[in-house]
Amino acid sequence: MASLPFASRAAPSLTADTTAEQATAGLDLRGRTVVVTGCNSGIGQETMRVLALRGAHVIGTARTLDKGRVACAAIEGRATPVALELTDFDSIKACSDEIRAMGMPIDALVCNAGIVLDDLQQVHGLEKQFVVNHLGHHLLVRRLLDRVIAAPQGRVVVLGSSSERNAPPGGIQFDDLSGRSWDKGRYAHSKLANGLFSLALAHGLATAGTRATSNCVSPGHVRSNILRNVDYGYRPDARSVQQGAATPCWLAASPAAARLNGGFFQDFAPADQSAHQQDRAMAARLWRVSEELVRDYLPIAGDRRA
Ligand SMILES: NC(=O)c1ccc[n+]([C@@H]2O[C@H](COP(=O)([O-])OP(=O)(O)OC[C@H]3O[C@@H](n4cnc5c(N)ncnc54)[C@H](OP(=O)(O)O)[C@@H]3O)[C@@H](O)[C@H]2O)c1
Repeated sequence: MASLPFASRAAPSLTADTTAEQATAGLDLRGRTVVVTGCNSGIGQETMRVLALRGAHVIGTARTLDKGRVACAAIEGRATPVALELTDFDSIKACSDEIRAMGMPIDALVCNAGIVLDDLQQVHGLEKQFVVNHLGHHLLVRRLLDRVIAAPQGRVVVLGSSSERNAPPGGIQFDDLSGRSWDKGRYAHSKLANGLFSLALAHGLATAGTRATSNCVSPGHVRSNILRNVDYGYRPDARSVQQGAATPCWLAASPAAARLNGGFFQDFAPADQSAHQQDRAMAARLWRVSEELVRDYLPIAGDRRA
């Protein structure tokens, strides 16, 4: 298993306009289990809907069980709601314990939930988008990783963003993760962390000789609910959630993506990314720092380190 993406090109039929239903047409996902975080809104909701439509059992997480129940009840196919609040490490532990207790391997774990904030907000003394978008998912993945590795070809798919390029100078702000000393690029910083997490994980999975993979995906600019906390809107060229969920679904389920590992994708093909997001030393350092921040909630047997 290569730890860098193969130079894949999107099939001619797969374009920026392709929807998740079109990208997964003909797939039979019966017998597969997929976890999608943030299943009650936007890209996560559409990812859950379409993968369940293709036959997968989707475990959909939402911040409250009620929100998850409503989302899961609204779709065709098999979907199981689980509560997950990514700012709360006890909630992440409870969520992973509940999923582990279901007893099956995880064929795909889609780390989708996320927030965009304008102002500085903190949790655990850390910048909040870093916690929700990156650190909470780091912990969730670490606590479920042996279940992903146990699948015939388990996949982690991390929702990143091309805005990672707008992270503060120097990339991850290891000297001040509180966000106090850098007022620009906090969302971009968290999305750079998503990309680096996926890169480190991909390297660890390959080095350990597993068949499991990890890739990061930019969904493009999508008219979802992501801008609910800010005072600006979507550009006129924003795409639909049906289009935004297409490449995440393809990475999670398509046989064409089975051998991709450690890549950053948009529209079914490798996408341009910053030098920071390809920096393996930064990725390994972020892995160690994140691990330290959630140390009390680790380890889990079968974990793979970067
Ligand atoms: N939309 C875009 O243009 C765009 C572009 C690049 C990347 N992305 C990425 O795509 C992913 C999905 O975003 P979206 O556009 O679909 O946004 P969305 O419609 O706002 O959905 C975000 C989801 O994340 C959940 N969430 C937020 N805070 C959470 C927390 N603390 N704990 C657990 N779950 C939480 C939300 O739950 P609630 O509804 O309960 O708040 C919701 O289910 C994000 O990672 C985002 O960064 C989006």
